[in-house]
Amino acid sequence: MNDRFLRACRCEPVDRTPIWIMRQAGRYLPEYRELRARADFLTVCRTPDLAVEASLQPLRRFALDAAIVFSDILLPLGALGIEMTFDPGPRLARPVRTRADIEALAGRPAAEVLGCVAETVRMLRRELDGRTPVIGFCGGPFTLAAYMTQGEGRDGFPEVRALRHRDPEAFRRLLDRLASLAAETLELQIAAGAQAVQIFDSWAGVLDAADYRAFALPAVRKVVHAIRHAGVPVIYFAPAAGHLLADAATCGADVQGVCWRTPISEARRRTGGAVAIQGNLDPAALLAGPDAVRAAARAVLDDAGDAPGHVMNLGHGILPGTPIASVEALVEAMAGSAARRAS
Ligand code: CP3
Repeated sequence: MNDRFLRACRCEPVDRTPIWIMRQAGRYLPEYRELRARADFLTVCRTPDLAVEASLQPLRRFALDAAIVFSDILLPLGALGIEMTFDPGPRLARPVRTRADIEALAGRPAAEVLGCVAETVRMLRRELDGRTPVIGFCGGPFTLAAYMTQGEGRDGFPEVRALRHRDPEAFRRLLDRLASLAAETLELQIAAGAQAVQIFDSWAGVLDAADYRAFALPAVRKVVHAIRHAGVPVIYFAPAAGHLLADAATCGADVQGVCWRTPISEARRRTGGAVAIQGNLDPAALLAGPDAVRAAARAVLDDAGDAPGHVMNLGHGILPGTPIASVEALVEAMAGSAARRAS
């Protein structure tokens, strides 16, 4: 098997730096847009045949070192009785804002809602037949709480920060519920064959360091602790969160994902070199075309240096308008970096 991604997560030596791309299955691919013309987003997520197809599309085009299961971080919220639509961003039928709302949440077993995701992982493992490792994922408890309270994506997510000040105890209870749900979500995928998992804490960066430590971090620790026994590498990704990185690195994950705002060398310093680092090419660099991408990739690799424990990725999800030629240039630059290492 191509295991350079799993090896880099564990800070073991590799022949070259592995690469995968957040949102590698998505709208920048014409074949994904074609798939979406036939089925809406939630149907793709909930239909294993279609979700496997979406997961495999980027691997057919590019020599990526990992596949990620096609799903969404918000899917597990169905277990709490939360209904939502996507257009293209999520919209919840009813936001959860008060202690009473939190106490009224349903408690269905996650497996009832996520059986389809487990089946997607099993089918994906079979299809890939050991060629490429499969990454499972969940949302970070705070990021899930941010969508639940806001009801949709919004700059700075004011409602979740309001809840923290209005009723800190209820907020803590909500995060604890979400940590259990996130852990179940990962357990299910690991049991189905996921060989690594990523916790997407996309909005943790809206917190200051004190609130991150007091509220969000303990919930992340609970998730990591619950799945540690499985022995698969855990990646924790929080973009725009350089001010939280030293604390985040204590969550128990093997890998810290950083965005383009935090250089890899700086991330290594702030984490004391104790964990591997994933990232951090600016997704906007890909809009500038292949030459710009090659230069940006070289800059990231030079900054990361030769120490083990770097996984190449973008600093956040790939943008819908990204030219295919830019992705090809990036993946080819990584393949070319092996020769540079050997020489
Ligand atoms: O290829 C992959 O990375 C796997 C699939 C994946 C999706 N969402 C598919 C998707 C993953 C890992 C996610 C995670 C996710 N979902 C996150 C964390 C990553 C991040 O970007 O910070 C978040 C915050 C969500 C919630 C969500 N889902 C948003 C904000 C949106 C709108 C995004 C946009 O680009 O407009 C979605 C919808 C979504 N999830 C799409 C895809 C491919 C686009 C929907 C479509 O096909 O119409």
